[in-house]
Amino acid sequence: MSALSTVKFKNPRAQHNFQGRTCSITGVGSYVPAKILTNTDLEKMVDTSDEWITTRTGIKERRVAAKDEFTSDMAVKAAQRAMKMAGVTAEQIELIVVATITPDMPFPATACLVQQKIGARRAAAFDLEAACSGFIYGLEIGQQFIMSRTYDTVLVIGAEKLSSIVDYTNRNTCVLFGDGAGAAILQNRPNAHGLLTAVMGADGSKGNLIHMPGGGSRCPATMDSVAAKLHYLQMDGRETFKNAVHAMCAAAKEALRRCELDITKIKCVIPHQANRRIIDAVGERLGVAPEQMFINLDRYGNTSAASVAIALDEAVASGKIQRGDLVLLIVFGAGLTWGAAIIEW
Ligand code: ACO
Repeated sequence: MSALSTVKFKNPRAQHNFQGRTCSITGVGSYVPAKILTNTDLEKMVDTSDEWITTRTGIKERRVAAKDEFTSDMAVKAAQRAMKMAGVTAEQIELIVVATITPDMPFPATACLVQQKIGARRAAAFDLEAACSGFIYGLEIGQQFIMSRTYDTVLVIGAEKLSSIVDYTNRNTCVLFGDGAGAAILQNRPNAHGLLTAVMGADGSKGNLIHMPGGGSRCPATMDSVAAKLHYLQMDGRETFKNAVHAMCAAAKEALRRCELDITKIKCVIPHQANRRIIDAVGERLGVAPEQMFINLDRYGNTSAASVAIALDEAVASGKIQRGDLVLLIVFGAGLTWGAAIIEW
């Protein structure tokens, strides 16, 4: 155990070790569907090129769920892997939070479907919608329940079937997104490593930059709404890009400030995997060295709420993150929403 876990931060917002309780991430897991959609495949579907997609985004391929494979199915597979790593049974889980913008259906919550499928009969369950920022929002919610002594074991999942809301005739968006799920088990571990702080932010005045206008109470599904393609994700890429860089840097700096850390102390930075150019701009402004940055968007594209969850699992599995290392997660998404979290792994 490193010295940090016994440090009492001056800032009360970084009181991760409070009265002996710590919100520890005891297991992570992820799942991506088998089907790979490459840039070359997309060249046959819309007026684009591997060269454009690679230079503008860094994405080479993404995963697409099968027709009969839904967000809850991917969430369950990621959850079971996280439970296995944590050594936690379904009976032990007291709360399930699923972050998603592509639930199986408007209701019941995908978290309830997951609860039934894994057999977590004791668990409360709800969905949370913070788009690509959802996993960090979920970690913070889980941490709050653990630190308040309400629960000892929480399952947080980021899962998306974005292929269900992507218009594969629109080159502006269809090249960017993929499907997948990532999960974490949060547990109270007395005086252990854990989530040090989580920063969350939102700006609803810019909600129109990334949105799906159809399907809610404002615009229920009709023949006209479907014909007008209102049930597909719409995005102003250029404006989103600018806001993403600014918000991600600000959130990361606030998280570091709360923990009285500078970026050189962070072993691994895991940014939302939306665009290589966003990641590079954020890395440059924060002074992140290339070897600190974890990137897998070339293989999965933007999987929204699943993005940093899958990356965290892969970084742990690959050995890039070892017990005691400090990890910085940074997210940004529709809402607008953003966030950053520091974990002492
Ligand atoms: N292939 C070829 N050309 C394309 C493609 C494509 N797939 N997509 C757009 N273009 C064209 C445009 O039509 C435009 O052509 P024009 O100049 O003739 O009009 C040109 O390329 C440049 O378009 P821009 O939108 O300015 O391209 P930009 O360099 O900004 O890259 C991109 C676009 C990749 C979308 C970028 O803006 C981006 O990544 N934005 C951020 C996305 C993001 O972070 N989303 C996160 C949140 S998502 C969520 O929460 C669900």
